Amino acid sequence: MTQRMEKERNKTGSRNPKAISQSNSNLLLIFFLLVHWVPLISGKEVKEEVVGYGYKVGSVNSGFTGKSLTADLSLIKESSVYGDDIQHLSLVASFETKNRLRVRITDSKNQRWEIPEDIVPREGHSPENYLHYSPLKHRVLLENNLLSDPNSDLLFTLHNTTPFGFTITRKSSGDVLFDTSPDTSNPDTFLVFKDQYIQLSSRLPIKRSSLYGLGEHTKSTFKLKPKDAFTLWNADLGSANIDVNLYGSHPFYIDVRSASADDKVKAGTTHGVLLFNSNGMDIVYGGDRITYKVIGGIIDLYFFAGPLPDMVIEQYTELIGRPAPMPYWSFGFHQCRYGYKNISDVEGVVAGYAKAGIPLEVMWTDIDYMDAYKDFTFHPTNFPLEKMKKFVNTLHQNGQQYVLILDPGISVNSSYETYIRGMQADIFIKRNGIPYLGEVWPGKVYFPDFVNPAGLEFWGNEIKMFRELLPVDGLWIDMNEISNFIDPTPTPSSTLDNPPYMINNAGVRRPINNKTIPATSLHFDIMTEYNVHNLYGLLESKATNAGLINSTGKRPFVLSRSTFVGSGRYTAHWTGDDAATWDDLAYTIPSILNFGLFGIPMVGADICGFSGNTTEELCRRWIQLGAFYPFARDHSSIDTTRQELYLWDSVAATARKVLGLRYQLLPYFYTLMYEAHTKGTPIARPLFFSFPRDTKTYEVNSQFLIGKGVMVSPVLKSGATSVDAYFPAGNWFDLFNYSNSVSVSSGKYINLAAPADHINVHVHEGNILALQQEAMTTKEARKTAFHLLVVLSSTGNSTGESFLDDGESVDMGGVGKNWSLVKFSGGIVGNRVVVGSNVINGEFAVSQKWIIEKVTFLGLEKTKGQFDVLEISGLSQPLGQEFNLEKTF
Ligand SMILES: *[C@@H]1O[C@H](CO)[C@@H](O)[C@H](O)[C@H]1NC(C)=O
Ligand SMILES: *[C@@H]1O[C@H](CO)[C@@H](O)[C@H](O)[C@H]1NC(C)=O
Ligand SMILES: *[C@@H]1O[C@H](CO)[C@@H](O)[C@H](O)[C@H]1NC(C)=O
Ligand SMILES: *[C@@H]1O[C@H](CO)[C@@H](O)[C@H](O)[C@H]1NC(C)=O
Ligand SMILES: *[C@@H]1O[C@H](CO)[C@@H](O)[C@H](O)[C@H]1NC(C)=O
Ligand SMILES: *[C@@H]1O[C@H](CO)[C@@H](O)[C@H](O)[C@H]1NC(C)=O
Ligand SMILES: *[C@@H]1O[C@H](CO)[C@@H](O)[C@H](O)[C@H]1NC(C)=O
Ligand SMILES: *[C@@H]1O[C@H](CO)[C@@H](O)[C@H](O)[C@H]1NC(C)=O
Repeated sequence: MTQRMEKERNKTGSRNPKAISQSNSNLLLIFFLLVHWVPLISGKEVKEEVVGYGYKVGSVNSGFTGKSLTADLSLIKESSVYGDDIQHLSLVASFETKNRLRVRITDSKNQRWEIPEDIVPREGHSPENYLHYSPLKHRVLLENNLLSDPNSDLLFTLHNTTPFGFTITRKSSGDVLFDTSPDTSNPDTFLVFKDQYIQLSSRLPIKRSSLYGLGEHTKSTFKLKPKDAFTLWNADLGSANIDVNLYGSHPFYIDVRSASADDKVKAGTTHGVLLFNSNGMDIVYGGDRITYKVIGGIIDLYFFAGPLPDMVIEQYTELIGRPAPMPYWSFGFHQCRYGYKNISDVEGVVAGYAKAGIPLEVMWTDIDYMDAYKDFTFHPTNFPLEKMKKFVNTLHQNGQQYVLILDPGISVNSSYETYIRGMQADIFIKRNGIPYLGEVWPGKVYFPDFVNPAGLEFWGNEIKMFRELLPVDGLWIDMNEISNFIDPTPTPSSTLDNPPYMINNAGVRRPINNKTIPATSLHFDIMTEYNVHNLYGLLESKATNAGLINSTGKRPFVLSRSTFVGSGRYTAHWTGDDAATWDDLAYTIPSILNFGLFGIPMVGADICGFSGNTTEELCRRWIQLGAFYPFARDHSSIDTTRQELYLWDSVAATARKVLGLRYQLLPYFYTLMYEAHTKGTPIARPLFFSFPRDTKTYEVNSQFLIGKGVMVSPVLKSGATSVDAYFPAGNWFDLFNYSNSVSVSSGKYINLAAPADHINVHVHEGNILALQQEAMTTKEARKTAFHLLVVLSSTGNSTGESFLDDGESVDMGGVGKNWSLVKFSGGIVGNRVVVGSNVINGEFAVSQKWIIEKVTFLGLEKTKGQFDVLEISGLSQPLGQEFNLEKTF
């Protein structure tokens, strides 16, 4: 559920941000007048003043360990636009690992706001890490203003030009990855550093650079388009709005390079760039340049060397934290709706799924269950606690789960215990010394402060008491941007509430305070909302995750709408309020792929659409796609027609088919969760993760991979019964019918039949999938026998993995032998097909009595493009024991 007020506005037809923009042109005009006419008003020459003139380099030094370079920068000339310039800056470039180079630029005299290490802990920032670095290995070649490391492909160069610039280059090829050298004719390319306006610009090779990331935004393409602008300021704006700042902030992108003319750079060579900054910002992408315009903090850039896409994400999540493991059950199918009337209504939905034979793993309830929308309460007549307890008990007996929503705003009501405890603990966010009074669903509210350690304790304690009343299995935290239904009045002449540079908030440069809490609010009496705003969802996710662990002792499931860099450590994410339109269906693919890049691999979009009435055809196509989202949940808004999957025969039939395949793939999804948790690799991936050399994959917006080898090619258009799908080179096999295959010697678009009940899902040669059988719950599916699908390759052996544990312990892998990892490999040897396994900690899998009952070999070529399916069945090979199997053909 989202900002209903936004939806109200949608009804008046202004969902299109352009429409909003026109109605607010007055606001923009006033803004320009203020900025550019100041000289006129003060009687000076009428000339547009430029925002800044850049800096020049003073002294350059090597850091004391020899692994860094420090430079003093001094201002060339003052400009008063957006405030006074900071005169002296210091720049530090340093290698943190061989694949990670950091460049920090900040005020050399005064300490500025930086994201505290305890809010976003970063690996490699602990002092002991520095010990791994021998000073001798890191040489600063001061004469050339270079910082280089013999183990690293990255090279930092300081250019003593006027104004100065720096570049990051790839040593192996000379490719310039980031280039802040100013274009002297264009002041927008200069470094500008003021208290509330920081500007940094890098040149990009327009023909060779493909950028992905920079969120959270809904976009029509996955690859960033030139002229795209990205505003980062967490806001409760429905994800049905394209190109505006949404719920989360992720100032991270990857740059996938095409081959260079001299062929020194191979296509697919990729690096990543993070601007580690929590302040509001606009990022302007022009194709040949990327320019950051940030309203606070410092410049803290991290460059990740790659050189392949998955390696960049591995290096990025090494810094920001690996994704949290998710419980096994969370990979089942979820059903939710805002507007379930009462507990019998919810029970009816659970029964509806059972009757239709569609697997339902998790039932959800939105704010409807609460008493007057107060957190941790139950509506006395519609959702009475006694009935809720019975209901949850029945769900649990059936192997199903229950998840409820929480909003951060605590109702101001002197007879509400949570409020009373919050006041006693003094944990609410304050403004002018008293709790800031906002307004959300329950009416007047105060917001808990998760920066304050007492706020964490308060929240954990409320969760614990709530779960003692009703043992819910997970928590859904919404409205945490923070959403506020009112526009706080700015404090007169406060540059926090009204900063001189207005970021493009909501696509109309609306004040940063609007529909959130005021920037002058204070967290824990020390941190301003101006600086902490984008971190609130992250902090609440962390608190909720910890609270659930404390209360359940099990692996927590948290779903958060608002996120920041590092949120993946604590939470899953859904893309927020999409609409039931064909465009929205298509846009979910870029959104989901982006969150994989951001280190939040457990992500999905509201299946069948949240706002607006869905149709049978749209819902059918949406469940066909949604069945393959990492997180698969059907959810809709109160003012829409119902859209549970069993309501239409054709949707029910397709749901049984596609969820059937999803449930067969559960061991695969779960193994990908393990890979994400240990290496950061996304579950849903762009095609170029597996085919980086194939430049045509850089443009693909409407297909994706699950793991390295399962490709999903959905229908995204009304009336279509076929789909043009891109196939990278190789043999691909239809997972719904192994006899169907596509073979291409080089990447090609293929038109595939996609009748009403069908989605195309193919597995690539070279993969081994360990599948189980479909069932009505993940618990039942886990009891079934394994089938190994060995997809033979013409170019080498096939491989695959299966990670197994109890699916609910807090840790995934790690110490102890209570988990197993089975690594499969197989291929063609002479006139035989062979497959075998290597097992780590086999005891666990053996104790669970999992067996492999059948092995299917695909890809044995009879005649050109025609393949045999070879099957060995009737096996009872324990999964936890190493084996070798072969069959002559
Ligand atoms: C639940 O809501 C439905 C729809 O409003 C209503 O018909 C039914 O009587 C309610 N049931 C209970 C037990 O309140
Ligand atoms: C305060 O909470 C009580 C108990 O939940 C409720 O009965 C009452 O209506 C609430 N008062 C206000 C003003 O919301
Ligand atoms: C767990 O909860 C208890 C009681 O609510 C609290 O005292 C304790 O500090 C919590 N522990 C952790 C690790 O959060
Ligand atoms: C921001 O809030 C102010 C104060 O309520 C209001 O006048 C203004 O219209 C709002 N601006 C936008 C773009 O919503
Ligand atoms: C959705 O359907 C309901 C019930 O038929 C109708 O009242 C409502 O106006 C529809 N909403 C839209 C946005 O068409
Ligand atoms: C699978 O595909 C083959 C080849 O196209 C076809 O002959 C067969 O009928 C299909 N099987 C099923 C169960 O649809
Ligand atoms: C493929 O597997 C077979 C059997 O395990 C092994 O002998 C062979 O070396 C492998 N080939 C490659 C290219 O890894
Ligand atoms: C495995 O054992 C370790 C150490 O006893 C424990 O921390 C972990 O939670 C256990 N994991 C599972 C899956 O049981």
